[in-house]
Amino acid sequence: MLLQAAVFSLGTVGALAHAVVKTPTPRKPGALSEELCGAAVSTVLNRDLAGPIENAVKVADADYNCNAYVCRGYQYEDNEASLHTYQAGDVVDFHIDLVAGHRPGYANVSVIDPANNVVLGSPLKTWEEWPINSTNPIQDDVDFNITIPESLASICTEGGKCAIQWYWYAIGGPQTYESCVDFVIGA
Ligand SMILES: *[C@@H]1O[C@H](CO)[C@@H](O)[C@H](O)[C@H]1NC(C)=O
Ligand SMILES: *[C@@H]1O[C@H](CO)[C@@H](O)[C@H](O)[C@H]1NC(C)=O
Ligand SMILES: *[C@@H]1O[C@H](CO)[C@@H](O)[C@H](O)[C@H]1NC(C)=O
Repeated sequence: MLLQAAVFSLGTVGALAHAVVKTPTPRKPGALSEELCGAAVSTVLNRDLAGPIENAVKVADADYNCNAYVCRGYQYEDNEASLHTYQAGDVVDFHIDLVAGHRPGYANVSVIDPANNVVLGSPLKTWEEWPINSTNPIQDDVDFNITIPESLASICTEGGKCAIQWYWYAIGGPQTYESCVDFVIGA
């Protein structure tokens, strides 16, 4: 992830792509993320919730103490009110707000342990190419569903342990976009 930021600073800055999860309600910035990520990075992240993470990381200063490449640095503690409860096997509909598309790129959706920055299990969905159409997105680009895996039922038991991460990497730039949906499986 640090490598991506480094490459970005050497490359030419192309026009910006933009996208963010709208449904289910994803993590947003809050008091804790602003404290951990610092004012400079948070200002860029907050200015455009659909903007590329690289834009924020390139202004990182001594106050940058989060990992913006995990859920854009947003913290569970700021988002407890948007914790989703699902059952294993539930089909969850997603909607992406594709503000400005860029190709080529690819995307995936996985469950992650956001506190430890690890992917849990296999990706729930992957797109070898995303978006298929940047000006006129096809349905599967922006409206799709994932199924909550039974295999994570014993792991995703408490808020903050699991998040569904939507990840888009636009190769030109490069630019990284992420949204995280906090969830628990069960009761
Ligand atoms: C999702 O895509 C990114 C960018 O290619 C990759 O780094 C990551 O490993 C992928 N995640 C999964 C779970 O495949
Ligand atoms: C995207 O959709 C537009 C409008 O329907 C079409 O003209 C264009 O060829 C499509 N582009 C791709 C890459 O499919
Ligand atoms: C989930 O998405 C698949 C693939 O697009 C579709 O065939 C299926 O009908 C959807 N399921 C639900 C419950 O919406």
